[in-house]
This record gives sequence, structure tokens and C-alpha cells, in this order.
Amino acid sequence: MLPGASGARLRSEPLVSEMIRLSLRTMTKEAIIAAVRQQIREQFSGEGTGHDYFHIERVVRNALRIAGTEPGADLFLVALAAWVHDLGDYKLHGGVDRSEALITTLLGSLNIPQDTIAKVVEIVSQVSFSKGKTAESLEAKIVQDADRLDALGAIGIARVFAFGGSRHRELYNPDDPEQTSIQHFYDKLLTLKDKMNTSLARTIAGERHRYLEAFLQQFYAEWNGEES
Ligand code: ADP
Ligand code: NI
Repeated sequence: MLPGASGARLRSEPLVSEMIRLSLRTMTKEAIIAAVRQQIREQFSGEGTGHDYFHIERVVRNALRIAGTEPGADLFLVALAAWVHDLGDYKLHGGVDRSEALITTLLGSLNIPQDTIAKVVEIVSQVSFSKGKTAESLEAKIVQDADRLDALGAIGIARVFAFGGSRHRELYNPDDPEQTSIQHFYDKLLTLKDKMNTSLARTIAGERHRYLEAFLQQFYAEWNGEES
């Protein structure tokens, strides 16, 4: 907050005043993002089921990368929503989705305006694969794509088996494949490339999809002793 005295002085220098006001606003947003990041880092460090801090960091990075190719995206909302997108995930809270409450508490503690918090809550509610919701806003489409990309490629493969292990799932079982981690490729991962909302995510997903197919081919070849 600018104290009244400097406010009066700045009014006599409109250009400088505007520049400072803009940079202060930017700094404030940056400071907010840094504070949210710090909170998320504390809460998610060391998580071992594929929802660790670095998953969230990758989602933020890819979301901002995608947002850079989508004119009109609100980068502040994209960044905030990406940072908090797994905060209240039902899998981390005994089967109950606590997104709205936890996001409201965290962002409220940083004095973020209520209408911004409501937008972030709405974006996050549209992101999750398992909730089956459709992403309607551009920001939700972007964060959803970034989250889904992290389930693909080499990292996606690592996360499947990390998650599967945390639920005591078998890697694979040809006699009873249903509850195995390999089954998750067919239930979810291989369906994702056709569900991307944005052009950049579709391109990246296509490459990562091919990597999954190559992995599965190699996996079965090794399993069956049929490597060439
Ligand atoms: P995200 O946090 O990316 O929205 P999810 O919460 O649905 O994704 O899942 C977290 C990670 O665990 C993802 O990489 C996903 O592929 C993997 N996963 C989810 N369900 C299963 C499952 N039933 N078996 C193996 N892996 C799973
Ligand atoms: Ni996620």
C-alpha cells in the first residue's frame, strides 16, 4: 500500500506514478505467487504417490508455457490455479474433495480478492480427470492440459507405477489385468492425447503418447521373452 503522502507526490508525476503503480502491482502478484509456491512446497514435499511438489511445479511450468501460446489467457489465474490444483484432491484427503475450503483458506490468508479466489476455485473444479468435468474457461483448459501432460511420457510412466505401488497394485498380471498399473494405461493414459484442449498440448501429448506405446511394446516383449 502506498502511504498517502507518496500518493500525493506521485499524482504530480503521472507517468512515473503509473509506472510505479504497474510495477507494484506486478510485484504484488509475483509476491503472491511466491507465497503460494512456498505453502505448496511445504505441504507436498516428499509425497510419494505421484502428487509430489515437483508434479505441481511441472504443471505450473507447462501451464504457463501453454498460456504463452493462447492469446487472452490470464496468466495470474493460470499460475494460481496450477499451483493449488491438487491442494484438496480427494485422493489425498481420505476420499473427500476439500479443494474449495483449502484453496479459499490459503488464498484468503494472502489477501487475494474474493472474486479472484472464486475464479481459481472454479478453474480447479474443472481440471480433474476423475471428476469428469468439462473445462470451460480458457484458464481451466490450459491447467487441465498441463496436468494431463504430466500423466504422459516418461514422467507419466514413472507416476503410474509410483501411484500403483502406493495402492499395492501389481505392475501387470496377464491372468487378472484389471487392477494392475498397466491397466491404467488403457483406462486413462492412452486416451489423453485426444482430450487435449490446446494446440501446443496436443503436439506434446502426441509425442508422449508414442513414448507410452513404445514402452508398452518393450514391456510385453520383455515379459514374454520376445525381445528381438
Ligand atoms: P493428476 O494429479 O495428474 O490429476 P490423478 O490424481 O488422476 O492425476 O493421478 C495421479 C497420477 O497417478 C497420474 O500420473 C495417474 O496416471 C496415476 N494414477 C491414477 N490412478 C491410477 C491407477 N488406478 N493406477 C495407476 N496409476 C494411477
Ligand atoms: Ni495434478
